[in-house]
Amino acid sequence: MADVSDSPVVDTPASMEEKPVDAPQDSNKDEGKAEGENEESLDPEMYRYIKEDLFTSEIYKVEIRNLPKFTGFNDLKKFLAKHGLNPHKIKLFGKQTFAFVTFKNEEERDKAMKMVHGMQWKSQVLSVRLAKPKADPILRKRKQEEEEGASGQPSSKRTEGGEEEEEEEPLSVQIANVVTPLWNVPYEEQLKRKEQEVVGVLQRLAKEIGSTNKALLPWLFAQKGKYNRMCCSLEAIRPSPVQVGLHVGAHLKYYTYVTCSIEISRIDPKTPSRVKKVIGIEMCQEAVEDAKVNAKLNGLSNIEFHCGKAEDVFPNILNALVSPNLTAIVDPPRAGLHSKVILAIRRAEHLKRLVYVACNAKAAMNNFIDLCRAPSKRVHGAAFRPVRAMAVDLFPQTMHLEMLLLLERVDYDSKQ
Ligand SMILES: C[S@@+](CC[C@H](N)C(=O)[O-])C[C@H]1O[C@@H](n2cnc3c(N)ncnc32)[C@H](O)[C@@H]1O
Repeated sequence: MADVSDSPVVDTPASMEEKPVDAPQDSNKDEGKAEGENEESLDPEMYRYIKEDLFTSEIYKVEIRNLPKFTGFNDLKKFLAKHGLNPHKIKLFGKQTFAFVTFKNEEERDKAMKMVHGMQWKSQVLSVRLAKPKADPILRKRKQEEEEGASGQPSSKRTEGGEEEEEEEPLSVQIANVVTPLWNVPYEEQLKRKEQEVVGVLQRLAKEIGSTNKALLPWLFAQKGKYNRMCCSLEAIRPSPVQVGLHVGAHLKYYTYVTCSIEISRIDPKTPSRVKKVIGIEMCQEAVEDAKVNAKLNGLSNIEFHCGKAEDVFPNILNALVSPNLTAIVDPPRAGLHSKVILAIRRAEHLKRLVYVACNAKAAMNNFIDLCRAPSKRVHGAAFRPVRAMAVDLFPQTMHLEMLLLLERVDYDSKQ
């Protein structure tokens, strides 16, 4: 709740205990005397939020002093409840001898002040006074980052005892931190972090292929030398055209035109950029219906859809296709492809290329390894190897990204 930087008294709890407590007065006057002024408290921007329409209990805040040492959160809550007081937030400081407590409205705050001020708890006589609201946490965080950027030193807030004070953020910030954890990271930096994550995945995949498919070692060695220890080239990350709000639909328009978890395409050998036929597999009936509408809107008539679980449907469909040059695009859920699907892909040697769309590249690692591992009694068919990768940012302000990995069937005969 309240932050140490809001309140210099937090840094001097010993002297604070001895200070005579003024009767609560006008909050501004009180703040000026007891809490002192720092640069931040002079910046009206930091307090603009309390004048906005959204509820904040910060404007109904009091400071209770002289608490018995090491008073716990529940102790204080119970103590206040016993006297019919219903606090909104409580934050204890300085060996728990004083606390900032907020209330839902002025009436409850005033009632608490009247009741608790002068009251005895254990051997302590409590005192209460108005406290000023804390500075806007978002603006303060930005300012702190600017200062850290300028000085190169992280600035931390510590109590006298040396322990780090935990900050309780308003609900809007707590939600933002969970849903869009990178909300306060510049977009360029977000892209760098995401790209770095994909680099890590491709470097790890290089190691894994090295230990699960020795025949690929010479090729792998050359790849790692060329591509910063990664197993293949990585294209520049595709940024999102907009960085605020959810806009998945807009992206899908650019990157995919059918909705299904697996698409198998037969490439026309004369015009390889053209696809002769597309077969889509998706277990959700509504998604299949959407895919049909999308296909129609895009004027595509060479697509057929199958509704069912890929692990049940895919092996038979694949076996029935006779074209010698098939490409599959898989876009599975986070957990990745079922092992039956992986084994079917490996067995079907007429499937030459595979585009794997991974919404969680780390979780897809086992699938990548199984696609690339050496053939064995269980895994029939030549291995694949990764040849190109790309990251696409569909979810700014989060660490989520889509990784596209193009894998090609290894042609052992051609000694490539
Ligand atoms: C990451 S989404 C891909 C969505 C689609 N490619 C698009 O662009 O809209 C994964 C899809 O796989 C489907 N799915 C999940 N498990 C499946 C399974 N075992 N067999 C077939 N489809 C499955 C889900 O219904 C979901 O639509």
